[in-house]
Amino acid sequence: MSKNIVVIGAQWGDEGKGKVVDVITPHVDVVVRFSGGNNAGHTVVVGREKYVLHTIPSGILHNGRRCIIGCGVVIDPGSLIEEMESLVQRGVSLDGNLYISKNAHLIMPYHPALDRASEAKLGKRRIGTTGKGVGPAYVDKAARVGIRMADLLDERLFREKLEFNLAQKNRLLRDFYDAETFGVEAILNQYLRYAGWLAPYITDTALLLSKWIESGYSVLFEGAQATMLDIDHGTYPYITSSSTTAGGAVTGTGVPPTKIHGVLGVAKAYSTRVGGGPFPTEMTGKLAETIRARGKEYGATTGRPRRCGWFDGVVLRYAVRINGFDTVALTKLDVLDQCETLKLCTGYRWRGDIITDFPGEETALAELEPVYEDVEGWMTSTAGAKNEADLPAKARRYLERLEELIGVPFCLISTGAQRDETILCEDSPLLRWYPSVRSSIV
Ligand code: GDP
Ligand code: IMO
Ligand code: MG
Repeated sequence: MSKNIVVIGAQWGDEGKGKVVDVITPHVDVVVRFSGGNNAGHTVVVGREKYVLHTIPSGILHNGRRCIIGCGVVIDPGSLIEEMESLVQRGVSLDGNLYISKNAHLIMPYHPALDRASEAKLGKRRIGTTGKGVGPAYVDKAARVGIRMADLLDERLFREKLEFNLAQKNRLLRDFYDAETFGVEAILNQYLRYAGWLAPYITDTALLLSKWIESGYSVLFEGAQATMLDIDHGTYPYITSSSTTAGGAVTGTGVPPTKIHGVLGVAKAYSTRVGGGPFPTEMTGKLAETIRARGKEYGATTGRPRRCGWFDGVVLRYAVRINGFDTVALTKLDVLDQCETLKLCTGYRWRGDIITDFPGEETALAELEPVYEDVEGWMTSTAGAKNEADLPAKARRYLERLEELIGVPFCLISTGAQRDETILCEDSPLLRWYPSVRSSIV
């Protein structure tokens, strides 16, 4: 029976989900995005070519794979069309391969404006958003005033909803934020042009998925952002505004939980975070700079330097619990190749106690101290290793300790951005779901 699995970031995003999805895609029929918007930046490196996907699933780079943008995604149509054009220019075929949910909400021009204005107003409590308008678009969705893809195809309804929204948003922008306002006609004309472009792709994707699953197709759910940025389970309020954990795959596509067979987490061998908010194992000074430089830790969407930190076992165990990971793909091991000593966080010290369950409260997160275990570094290159046995003994020890801390087995170890810089681990659930993975990773 074909298998449907969910791929989820285990930390604060940018774990290498794009690369992992790209490696697994040849073994599935459909790839679907279910959360977030163009705040995501998923990088796939193919030889000398580098692709950064924002709203389109990373699976699109494999010819013939059907890709869906599900109802849980918020779509900036201008940015999506730009992404589509750039892929087509680079020889990627979209016709018959890309489907957009009619229920997905639109990011309107006033959403990025509200995003930026809100950030400015928040001052030192600002989130550090990507400024793409993703948060305000989800606000409108929850407030039941959002405009959906299907509305783009109905000019009268679109105008009516736009007029209502602008009356409200312009007042907010002008009177509360002291910011520029928007006119109906300019947006209407621009969005009707977008509608002409996107109409052939807009459809009932939940129905399509249901039919495809019924007929035996396998589906990969491509997570965006990550567990610690989830609206309910992340480090609120320093989070994104959607359900980025495994449950989001259900609500964000319309595929029932009974049709999902497994969850694969993606984690870096260390940690990074972009934007504000708590980050218990954050490194400072020269060490952070070194890791940032080795890992090229600059945002794929905004170019901002990413904050860097040690591997946090508490966060990973939490991610396993919230998402039910069956297995984890560990990325960027090579970035640690030149570290003499590595620190591994095994718990937090808080008000005299050692805690091992991630606390959600802002106060606790501000006060706690990570408890570290030192692990000897391997000080040699891991790049190009083809199987776990090829890795230096000390690297293997690091991996074993991580697995022990996390409590689930690794399925892939990534030692570089290229497709073939990937080690397949024996006896992992990934091989049970997709036995053919063995033939593509050797
Ligand atoms: P995503 O948002 O989770 O898809 O991750 P990003 O694409 O934002 O960031 C991950 C970055 O690390 C990208 O530039 C990848 O090309 C790169 N990358 C992925 N896996 C590895 C790896 O194992 N080693 C190294 N050095 N780079 C990697
Ligand atoms: P991928 O899918 C890393 C972060 C922002 C900010 C917070 C809220 O590439 O892993 P938003 O614009 O969503 O309102 O910003 O979330 N953030 C990400 N950080 N990777 C991402 O996506 C992110 N998407 C949003 O930096 O802290
Ligand atoms: Mg990213």
